[in-house]
Amino acid sequence: MEGSTAPEAKAKAAVLRVAAISGSLRRGSANTGLIRAAKEICEESIPGMVIDHVDISGLPLLNTDLEVDGGFPPAVEAFRAKVRAADCFLFANPEYNYSISGPLKNALDWGSRPPNCWADRAAAILSASGGSGGSRSQYHIRQVGVFLDIHFINKPELFIRAHQPPKKFDSDGNLIDPEIREELKNVLLSLQAFALRLQCKASASEHAAMSSSSDKGD
Ligand SMILES: Cc1cc2nc3c(=O)[nH]c(=O)nc-3n(C[C@H](O)[C@H](O)[C@H](O)COP(=O)(O)O)c2cc1C
Repeated sequence: MEGSTAPEAKAKAAVLRVAAISGSLRRGSANTGLIRAAKEICEESIPGMVIDHVDISGLPLLNTDLEVDGGFPPAVEAFRAKVRAADCFLFANPEYNYSISGPLKNALDWGSRPPNCWADRAAAILSASGGSGGSRSQYHIRQVGVFLDIHFINKPELFIRAHQPPKKFDSDGNLIDPEIREELKNVLLSLQAFALRLQCKASASEHAAMSSSSDKGD
């Protein structure tokens, strides 16, 4: 059937793989807990979207002396391969001193080393933080993402004041607040819709370029 090979149909049929990165290395991290909750939500109620938690705790601090003949240390190579393989990204970041956490910035920097592994993919940001809910850190991530060519969803935004009552996370960092769980689901649905739109447009433009070159007999 003609329609079955259309770029829109191909993009919709594929499973969207989300590389999810927590900016906190703490054992009981609320941000890592948000990634676990996102994974559960996708398994339960968002068909076609799979969350892969990419652990960044083993990355060395960025030092370009560690790059030898264009190669990276094994932990960095493995991380970069996971970033390249993802269809889109989910960042869960604790605000540290009004900005991005050191571990997440380190991971963004390693992935940016040429060739940039982040480019042309959709992303969403979550933050569980202190009084600000992490808003300032989210806008810093967006700023860095401009240079990395990451395309962020604009709405909905989710800023969580992790330590304000009522209790939102248990002592292991598991999300226990049903309203935030619903808001998180809406972020994931928005990411899914936007990532699919981007993929459709990319495959439609490839399709158009191929048809135009075959019309010219290239
Ligand atoms: C070094 C440091 C700086 C922090 N700075 C801020 C801040 O600027 N704004 C804020 O809202 N919370 C700040 N916090 C609080 C953390 O964002 C908050 O405790 C968060 O829940 C930690 O995330 P986690 O549970 O995933 O580890 C800071 C915490 C640390 C350790």
